[in-house]
Amino acid sequence: MTMTATPGAEAQAPVSPAATLNRSKVSTRDVKVYYGEKQAINGVSIDIPEKTVTSFIGPSGCGKSTFLRCLNRMNDTIPICRVTGEITLDGEDIYDPRIDVVELRARVGMVFQKPNPFPKSIFDNVAYGPRIHGLTTNKTDLEELVTSSLKRAGLFKEVKDRLHEPGTGLSGGQQQRLCIARAIATKPDVVLMDEPCSALDPIATAIVEELIDELRNRFTIIIVTHSMQQAARVSQRTAFFHLGNLIEEGRTEDIFSNPREKQTEDYISGKIG
Ligand SMILES: Nc1ncnc2c1ncn2[C@@H]1O[C@H](COP(=O)(O)OP(=O)(O)O)[C@@H](O)[C@H]1O
Ligand SMILES: [Mg+2]
Repeated sequence: MTMTATPGAEAQAPVSPAATLNRSKVSTRDVKVYYGEKQAINGVSIDIPEKTVTSFIGPSGCGKSTFLRCLNRMNDTIPICRVTGEITLDGEDIYDPRIDVVELRARVGMVFQKPNPFPKSIFDNVAYGPRIHGLTTNKTDLEELVTSSLKRAGLFKEVKDRLHEPGTGLSGGQQQRLCIARAIATKPDVVLMDEPCSALDPIATAIVEELIDELRNRFTIIIVTHSMQQAARVSQRTAFFHLGNLIEEGRTEDIFSNPREKQTEDYISGKIG
């Protein structure tokens, strides 16, 4: 969208924040999640705009990870977990029985709290997804995809001379960037990150935060964080969860400076959580 003022143009109507919102990439309607008899998510509806970083914040146990895992059907791997409601990616129902879950998780990649590289070389970690999804047809293309993914994850310079050494030999921050490179190598639309910096030191955290900011040019990013400072630094939109409910969602600056709901205000001012 171009917003440049043309000299001599008639005064334009003010643009409302809603009008500047990118198209919705992921939409959920009345999503409820149960672990056995216990309900963990109480009917969450949200539209996540594309090429934007959205943060999920809220006190521990409020359901951030549970809700995040709905978005690439990671909860399918938890036998007692049941999800109801509607979740669409580009308008397509991701819980439709015809959806190939492995392919879905390539389109909606995930980065976890603790860096979890495979016990394989740096190269093979990143090549793993492209190989199983048959994204490249020859060695040169695969090498190019691995290189570009490592570059995009801000790791290439540090590892270019040791691509065939184990990924587990890297520092924690490098391992997390390797996991990000692995997630983006399948050219996902959406990258889910569940507290991706919680195991990292402040310097590695700052590097990953910068990276997240760059990645939003290409990907839709949803990050769970227990750090309100991090949400304020990295995200354009923030959703506040409490006891399985989505309390409010909006522009990050509005959520932190001018929340609509008292519960949000209490949380950001440190009264709850
Ligand atoms: N695998 C699981 N089995 C049973 N209950 C779970 C499981 N994972 C999470 N829960 C419960 O669901 C609720 C939300 O947890 P979670 O999504 O991990 O919250 P958050 O990420 O906000 O800390 C909590 O009450 C938690 O105990
Ligand atoms: Mg969590």
